[in-house]
Amino acid sequence: MSAIEILGLEKTYPVGFWRKRPKRALKPLSLTIEEGEIFGFLGPNGAGKTTTLKMLMGLVFPSGGTARILGRPIGDPAMQAQIGFLPEQPYFYDHLTPRELLTYYGQLSGLTTKEAERKVPEMLDRVGLRDAANVQLRKFSKGMLQRVGIAQSILHNPKVVFLDEPMSGLDPMGRHEVRDLIEQLKHEGKTIFFSTHILSDAEALCDRVAILHLGELRKVGAVADLTSAIGGRIELVWRGATIPQAFSALGAECHATGDTVRALVPESSQEAAMEALRREGLRLISLTPLRTSLEDYFVSQVKPSEATAGGKP
Ligand SMILES: Nc1ncnc2c1ncn2[C@@H]1O[C@H](COP(=O)(O)OP(=O)(O)OP(=O)(O)O)[C@@H](O)[C@H]1O
Ligand SMILES: [Mg+2]
Repeated sequence: MSAIEILGLEKTYPVGFWRKRPKRALKPLSLTIEEGEIFGFLGPNGAGKTTTLKMLMGLVFPSGGTARILGRPIGDPAMQAQIGFLPEQPYFYDHLTPRELLTYYGQLSGLTTKEAERKVPEMLDRVGLRDAANVQLRKFSKGMLQRVGIAQSILHNPKVVFLDEPMSGLDPMGRHEVRDLIEQLKHEGKTIFFSTHILSDAEALCDRVAILHLGELRKVGAVADLTSAIGGRIELVWRGATIPQAFSALGAECHATGDTVRALVPESSQEAAMEALRREGLRLISLTPLRTSLEDYFVSQVKPSEATAGGKP
């Protein structure tokens, strides 16, 4: 059984003073996420990530399509007991402490007082808030609040965890800790579906990613497959100041510094470039394949339609 099946889910919001102007936030989206996967839902601002998550959580009514989580339809209480959700901008009562808040949430999700007493400190430890367990939330930084939100989403040991921008507002250390936590959740057999802008985090964590733009699914696949699809470049470095003539025909980008030259050439021209260096008797110092990052791929996917949609530069 797939963990999440999204079947043509779409959303059009009525906007304007009379709410008559339709605003299409999500075009029909179909995606399947398998159990145990870490799935990254990527897209620029306004792509429709939060809208999708809210529909899956039953917080926003879809204009069309449907979805199944753990084989059950949206809104099914038995399914909802087995999922966790971190909203994009979680809001908590300022005057509660994280211990009180998590105990409250734990009881809401069916934990007994005894279970909550055991689980809450364990959870606070897990998200690095042990020392702040009894401090009121109004004194917390954004990053600390985000950790409380993450603790809340996994407290009841859900099978599928939905996180909307879990790394937002965290410093590099905090991001690293959240990454580790997401990996641990995967090792426990959970499925994680998270949205993010931070592509390096998606690259490091995700089994697969989907790229959404202007409400439309652009691509879905394993990060390695997506990034190898646009062909990489290689970097050649040699001693001397000579740049063989053949290099300009190969579309090379050359930079001479001191007594070395550094050239970037398309992967497909590697042999021709090496041959040109040999002919000139130039000594190669290094040859390094430059992997296309998810960031480059993302930009290449998102740019063309921004031009057609007249998006901001
Ligand atoms: N309640 C609403 N009423 C009208 N339009 C909305 C509503 N919520 C979202 N939208 C619009 O739907 C589109 C998608 O928004 P959404 O919040 O899902 O994007 P997102 O990918 O989560 O963006 P971000 O990265 O900024 O969080 C945007 O154009 C947004 O303005
Ligand atoms: Mg959002």
